[in-house]
Amino acid sequence: MTAPSPWWQRGVIYQIYPRSFLDTDGDGIGDLAGIEARLDHVARLGADAVWLSPFYPSPMADFGYDVADYCGVDPIFGDLAAFDRLLARAHDLGLRVLLDFVPNHSSDRHPWFQESRSSRTNAKRDWYIWRDPGPDGGPPNNWISDFGGPAWTWDEATGQYYLHAFLKEQPDLNWRNPEVVAAMMAAMRFWLDRGVDGFRIDVLWHIVKAEGLPDNPVNPDWREGVRDRDRLIQRHSTDQPEARALAAQFRRMADGYGERVLVGEIFLPNERLARWYGTAEEPGVHLPFNFQLIEQPWDAHRLGDVIAAYDASVPAHGWPNWVMGSHDAPRIAGRIGEAQARVAAMLLLTLRGTPTLYQGDEIGIGRVEIPATRARDPQELRQPGIGIGRDPSRTPMPWDGSPDAAFSTAEPWLPLNPDWRTRNVAAQEHDPGSMLHLYRKLLALRRDRPALALGSWHALEAPSGVIAYERRHGDERLTVLLNLTAGRIAIPWRADPILSTLATDPEPGALRPDEGLILA
Ligand code: NOJ
Repeated sequence: MTAPSPWWQRGVIYQIYPRSFLDTDGDGIGDLAGIEARLDHVARLGADAVWLSPFYPSPMADFGYDVADYCGVDPIFGDLAAFDRLLARAHDLGLRVLLDFVPNHSSDRHPWFQESRSSRTNAKRDWYIWRDPGPDGGPPNNWISDFGGPAWTWDEATGQYYLHAFLKEQPDLNWRNPEVVAAMMAAMRFWLDRGVDGFRIDVLWHIVKAEGLPDNPVNPDWREGVRDRDRLIQRHSTDQPEARALAAQFRRMADGYGERVLVGEIFLPNERLARWYGTAEEPGVHLPFNFQLIEQPWDAHRLGDVIAAYDASVPAHGWPNWVMGSHDAPRIAGRIGEAQARVAAMLLLTLRGTPTLYQGDEIGIGRVEIPATRARDPQELRQPGIGIGRDPSRTPMPWDGSPDAAFSTAEPWLPLNPDWRTRNVAAQEHDPGSMLHLYRKLLALRRDRPALALGSWHALEAPSGVIAYERRHGDERLTVLLNLTAGRIAIPWRADPILSTLATDPEPGALRPDEGLILA
């Protein structure tokens, strides 16, 4: 008998952005008590785990991805007792809890960095990456911050530069120093010992840099108007073998706690992404995030190829995963429209691999314009107007039609979606044809049908504009047909329809405009 598959292979992860879930203390910003109060929404949806974006003490230069204490809770969000209550409630509801672990950089307010920058001889100097100026007196190499501008900041007091892959308020830790490894692993243990079920690991492929910090090659494809970061190819600043060895070390530690899961945030093409699974003997992270549904144009032919190539690239000891939205990416319904967002939901929830959902996508939140005066995201503020601002995906959850959608009693930190009076959780609860109900049906089906949760994936021949595939597990066969166009497409199907993305009965021999179908 083969061992039953672990929960993180069968299950579905739901990402919560704590600032924007529910505010219970009237400051316009979501908090841990708010998450606890609304976990039943996630449980009713049918997800298996929540991943919480950072809630650690932070000056919020990058909204929590600048951590000033890896083992605490920022007072904006609550305290450790509030976290413990949230965790207990989640476990009571059968939900696992993954935290966001941010290893590449801390906040410049973290006591470690304060010590490190205090003098060249401080015991923590080498916990961060300090270098003398380059030969021309400028930065030590040509690296560019992911948020634009040089990745080095000059520190007047000690006369050296420090490295930061993101904001200057987010200095990169030096993972080549064993004391850093020990301190950060102790932080992970702090939360594992408290009972968390795993981590989503922020920019995992960034954590170690090539020895000698050589210049990155220039990207010949960069054009004006494209983000600054892409001027260079990040060959020496990311994806180093030593980082994969650290991932294997994290894995050994997590596995020591039983069925825990590590999800790695990694942006790489298939063959390089696959290396983050490690080997069967020495596995890396369980799920190196696969962002291709976010990155690719919404085109049936293209996506069909991408899905097949990715599915084939996952090693036998690995397990695939899919993501379609996050606090960093444009909203799927904003990108492709509501009708296709329903097809997208069916795609995400019927592919082979663990899906990660992003809060608000289950009610189809679409485009939100953020007036320049309300922009908060440092990426937008530093490179305005080129469409890379992340505020539109971080707007508060609209719970019902009461003032400020019952998110808060104060003005929310970001505006709500403009249609919140009609597009909110309560309104969709009452509408059986809503996106929310479609998500629930898809999740329920995935739970009931091993072919969807665990089965193999096989591409089927399909007319232009359609993605078609079969999922197989034992004797069970399910066919998925997705019409990525707004036109009717004739396609002979014979099996029994068990779910359509449209509210009315399917039409034999065709896919209607914007229709996805699951057939048994
Ligand atoms: C990825 C996170 O998802 C993003 O929000 C953050 O700005 C960067 N990492 C830096 O931590």
